[in-house]
Amino acid sequence: MPRLGVNVDHVATLREARKGKLPDPVAAAVLVEMAGADGIVCHLREDRRHIKDKDLYLLKDVVKTHLNLEMAATEEMIKIALDVLPDMVTLVPERREELTTEGGLDVVRHFDYLEEVVEMLRQQGIVVSLFIDPEIQQIKSAARLGADYVEIHTGLYANAEDLGSALDELEKIRSMAAAAAKLGLGVSAGHGLNYQNVREIARIPQIEELNIGHSIVSRAVMVGMERAVREMLELIRR
Ligand code: PXP
Repeated sequence: MPRLGVNVDHVATLREARKGKLPDPVAAAVLVEMAGADGIVCHLREDRRHIKDKDLYLLKDVVKTHLNLEMAATEEMIKIALDVLPDMVTLVPERREELTTEGGLDVVRHFDYLEEVVEMLRQQGIVVSLFIDPEIQQIKSAARLGADYVEIHTGLYANAEDLGSALDELEKIRSMAAAAAKLGLGVSAGHGLNYQNVREIARIPQIEELNIGHSIVSRAVMVGMERAVREMLELIRR
């Protein structure tokens, strides 16, 4: 049964629609924890389009469960991570013009640099995860460079246009989760998961944690955060 990390970025997206103070992602995090989720996730993007530095510092103080900071492996972000000291850092690729993270990190290509970054973060006691596509070379490189976790990108599965391609993607995720665990990596998964497609992923035995944002925040707008989180927990734990 995987743990659930809830990404509160899009509570801040709604706030930024008016550049005001509400809704507050930190208040949302409290409700997420009250509903029984296992952790809070936020992505401090280079352009600060949703989560701001101040939100991150407040989350560090307020979150009682587990705080996972998603960030690009840039000098600026590393400095912030080493100052905030979240429980976990998930390194993601980032392009300014994208709507959301569009693919996994290329760990093969950026091996030497990422090895240094992972080491720097781990030395401060931060658990480090690499967000990667379900590809064997990426997983082998993640294990070789000393990451604690890989987060398998589920976007292609979630956005598949027909059942055949969804099943193909699911099979890839299944076998890559098994391969990663065999290499000693912790395994989580996320991106595009929702109330309709989460069950198949939650059943994969090696996946320890699911990180879900947009679908939960969208439902929360309609039914409230606590109910939205509880309904997702029920699907995952059933
Ligand atoms: N995991 C990672 C690494 C992400 O970058 C994101 C999006 O910020 C998520 C999970 C959550 O994706 P979604 O909002 O589609 O649930």
